[in-house]
Amino acid sequence: KILIYDFGSQYTQLIARRVRELNVYCEIFPYNHTPRIDHTEYKGVILSGSPHSTLEEEAPNFDVSDIRGKMPLLGVCYGAQLLAKQNGGKIEPSKIREYGRANLSYINHNSPLMKGIPEDSQVWMSHGDTILELPENFKVIASTSDVNVAAYRIEGEETFGLQFHPEVTHSTDGKMMLQDFIVGVCGCKQDWTPESFVDSTVRELKEKVGDDKVILGLSGGVDSSVAAVLLHKAIGENLHCIFVDNGLLRKDEFSSVLESYKGMGLNVKGVNAAEEFYKELEGVSEPEAKRKAIGKVFVDVFERESKLVENAKWLGQGTIYPDVIESVSVKGPSATIKSHHNVGGLPDYMKLQVVEPLNTLFKDEVRAVGHTLGIDDAILKRHPFPGPGLGIRILGDVTAEKVAILQEVDHIFIQGLKDHGLYNDVWQAGAIFLPVQSVGVMGDERTYENVVALRAVGSLDGMTADWIHLPYEFLAEISNNIINRVKGVNRVVYDISSKPPATIEWE
Ligand code: XMP
Repeated sequence: KILIYDFGSQYTQLIARRVRELNVYCEIFPYNHTPRIDHTEYKGVILSGSPHSTLEEEAPNFDVSDIRGKMPLLGVCYGAQLLAKQNGGKIEPSKIREYGRANLSYINHNSPLMKGIPEDSQVWMSHGDTILELPENFKVIASTSDVNVAAYRIEGEETFGLQFHPEVTHSTDGKMMLQDFIVGVCGCKQDWTPESFVDSTVRELKEKVGDDKVILGLSGGVDSSVAAVLLHKAIGENLHCIFVDNGLLRKDEFSSVLESYKGMGLNVKGVNAAEEFYKELEGVSEPEAKRKAIGKVFVDVFERESKLVENAKWLGQGTIYPDVIESVSVKGPSATIKSHHNVGGLPDYMKLQVVEPLNTLFKDEVRAVGHTLGIDDAILKRHPFPGPGLGIRILGDVTAEKVAILQEVDHIFIQGLKDHGLYNDVWQAGAIFLPVQSVGVMGDERTYENVVALRAVGSLDGMTADWIHLPYEFLAEISNNIINRVKGVNRVVYDISSKPPATIEWE
């Protein structure tokens, strides 16, 4: 496998994804918490970019003496500058801004990294400093018209530096360069596939869990579903799934998802706890207080139900790799903007060990594994849905009546997206119940009813998002259907805010 040492670049995860797209397994470590190098296990190391400058006094540094010359090493952007600087190269703030597209004007095609790269190949630059002079045995292998040292190799070593970012798709041949490094130079086999992941994970789970019982909370989402099916494949009936209806799910979701889980052979208990949630939410309108209330009841219900499973030793979770990276990242866990509630917060005294079969996978890999396991697209391609559900899409206090109205509105919108073939073009969509009433006219009657907002966003990971330019005709049809069919709603608005500065959810 390949190791990626993270210096805090926004693109580090992208490097990992590119490597894995080449069917090679890799892991990310913060530069200040790296593992002991095992030459039989690891085939090469990549140093990431960074928001820092090597010229800063406290610039992140890393001693490469254990690696350099002993195994292939590739520095990207900051990583490339760091290697040059450590060996006496001269780094300076660039005179011209070096951001965005550039084209390679010189390419040394004899270099293993540049073999098949076409003339003029487009690369993506994003750096404030530039390598002005290379140390003696460093040789330039590619340049652009503005940047002489766009790529280099240390002579006699499998050590390379790329000033641009091969991991972003704007670097047209970046993936080929990464492939040449990982397969050509490091000699990795491209045998890491969803099938091989399933085989090895099932084997490991069998070994780890043995004949113990595992409890897992299902949410209807991709991650918990794939985790459950994997565990089920490994330990069969010893996996006990719990699916809680918090009364804040989409219309008919509880029954339809429960059905499909049973169809997959999972041993799952559906627990209808809607009333308990509504009771706890009564009169609560502050967003964080609502999240806390929902989280608390969830833990209560889950705990009560888990106790019914005798001798359970493990708690299964659908944690995925980005959550893991986030919690050990160079920057530390990112500042909490909203307290996300997932199945995580169980009380310590439950004394369950945690098993997380997906904690090395990115979201798209989870989907690919789910596909290999035969899970239906209805689950795998499902939009993300927040744990607190419609509870945070009803602004102000939550009541069963408001939930019922919002479920209808949401259903018309989502079904409309599906019917018009738009569902898969949208990353996430939903409706929001606003705490306002507005005046309308229906027939000859004046109405004074609720306003709902529709939101549809495009995103890659939920960190940033933009509103989707849904066709006007579509919006017109949906608005019509909602106002005509859902009693209590007389006005529909469309949310045209991007994240940042807005967030995807309104609360
Ligand atoms: P925001 O609103 O922060 O949402 O832009 C980003 C993504 O996270 C989802 N989200 C949640 N998911 N529990 C969850 O499991 C939560 O409390 C929660 N809050 C927001 C949101 O739906 C979007 O996909």
